[in-house]
Amino acid sequence: MSTNSMTIEGKTVLVTGANRGIGRALVDEVLSRGASRVYAGTRTPLSHTDGRVVPLTLDVTDRAQIRSAVEQVESLDILVSNAGVSLGGDLDRAVIDQHLAVNLFGTLDVIQTFLPLVIDARGAVVSVLSLAAVAAVPFDPNYSISKGASLSLLQVLRGQLSPRGVSVHAVLPGPVDTDMTRHLDLPKASAESVAQAIVDGLERGDEEIFPDPMSAAIADGWSDGVVKALERQFASYVEADPVAS
Ligand SMILES: NC(=O)c1ccc[n+]([C@@H]2O[C@H](COP(=O)([O-])OP(=O)(O)OC[C@H]3O[C@@H](n4cnc5c(N)ncnc54)[C@H](OP(=O)(O)O)[C@@H]3O)[C@@H](O)[C@H]2O)c1
Repeated sequence: MSTNSMTIEGKTVLVTGANRGIGRALVDEVLSRGASRVYAGTRTPLSHTDGRVVPLTLDVTDRAQIRSAVEQVESLDILVSNAGVSLGGDLDRAVIDQHLAVNLFGTLDVIQTFLPLVIDARGAVVSVLSLAAVAAVPFDPNYSISKGASLSLLQVLRGQLSPRGVSVHAVLPGPVDTDMTRHLDLPKASAESVAQAIVDGLERGDEEIFPDPMSAAIADGWSDGVVKALERQFASYVEADPVAS
């Protein structure tokens, strides 16, 4: 389902988890499409040869760091919440907590903190979730639960932010060839191809972005499916302010 399309040219973009994997590829992809400035949020210091890249120290579980990061950002068109963990393990409450800390609450805290800037710009929020958000992967239960909760968060934000001119995009990749999936013997898309498809989807205005061959196979069924129909119905009931926390 498409909302408002946009171009990257001339936009300011922030990417969390920007030092490796999909996040690093996203930084390079938006630079190649003419982003005017790219804030690269990382836990460890990042150096990049392109002068448009502004490093930001940003552990998404550290609220003081998030507050300090937002003070260094003058304006922001596109916020990409990409940082995530997959720690494996059997179904376990403590391990669910560890996943929620980064994948759900880290995403929430970063989005809520930077949202006033994105609202000012009538921009976009993008979050890299997973196909595991749509259907839990039984061999990765703790991760699946955190990504399922994050998909719900994105649906909430879309309902609340769309009237304020902000588009919200959930990225739902299948396996991607990064450190996160090093141990999995499965066909995987490259991080570069996934980054390209994510930015294509954002430029088209797709609410859900299916950026690799495995996920693309369900894209048509998703956009015409009951989940999207219910989401639109529910979104018409309530309008609250997600900035208030
Ligand atoms: N790879 C896949 O198959 C796949 C599939 C679907 C969705 N995804 C999602 O795509 C996103 C990127 O994953 P990836 O495949 O690129 O994995 P990756 O190579 O393991 O990279 C994960 C990134 O997240 C960062 N990160 C982890 N915890 C953080 C924290 N507390 N604060 C800030 N940054 C943190 C890491 O930073 P450090 O270097 O400091 O650890 C790293 O930059 C994740 O949300 C993941 O769930 C991946």
